Parts: sequence; C-alpha cells; structure tokens
Amino acid sequence: MLELNVCIGSSCHLKGSYNVIQTFQQIIEDEALHDRVEMKAQFCMKQCQNGVSVAMNGKVFSVSPETARQFFRETVLNEIKAG
Ligand code: FES
Repeated sequence: MLELNVCIGSSCHLKGSYNVIQTFQQIIEDEALHDRVEMKAQFCMKQCQNGVSVAMNGKVFSVSPETARQFFRETVLNEIKAG
C-alpha cells in the first residue's frame, strides 16, 4: 500500500492543498486505486517555502493544483507499478 500524505498546514492550504487532494481523490476513484493508495492529510511538513507538500512513502515532493494530475500520473502511478 502506497502512502500519500498531503500537507494541509496553513501555507500549503493557501497554495491549494484542498484542490490537490480533490485531484488525487478523483484519479484514485477513476482508476479504482483504493486498495493501492492510502491518502491522508497531514499538518505542516516544514517545507513551506515550496509548493503544496506531498509525501509519498516518506519522501516529500512539491506539487501545485496545476501539477497535481501530472504528478500523480507520473510519479505516483510509476511507484504503484514498481511496487
Ligand atoms: S504548511 Fe505545508 S509544509 Fe508547511
């Protein structure tokens, strides 16, 4: 099970973490990935200088509402396939 944590701290919230979560949820729904990805919200990851912080299996990435779909399709799906 791949663990995906989206930061909902105040800085990331302002940069659109809610939209990032919506986008991820939509893809998880569309691709029926519920048993492959566990998504959780998490408070500040101490990377506020970047975009919306998203941790995948502990590694932190910087995402935005605009790049969320691409990030999921490239990085997350690749990790799922690899695992
Ligand atoms: S609020 Fe998201 S990293 Fe700080």
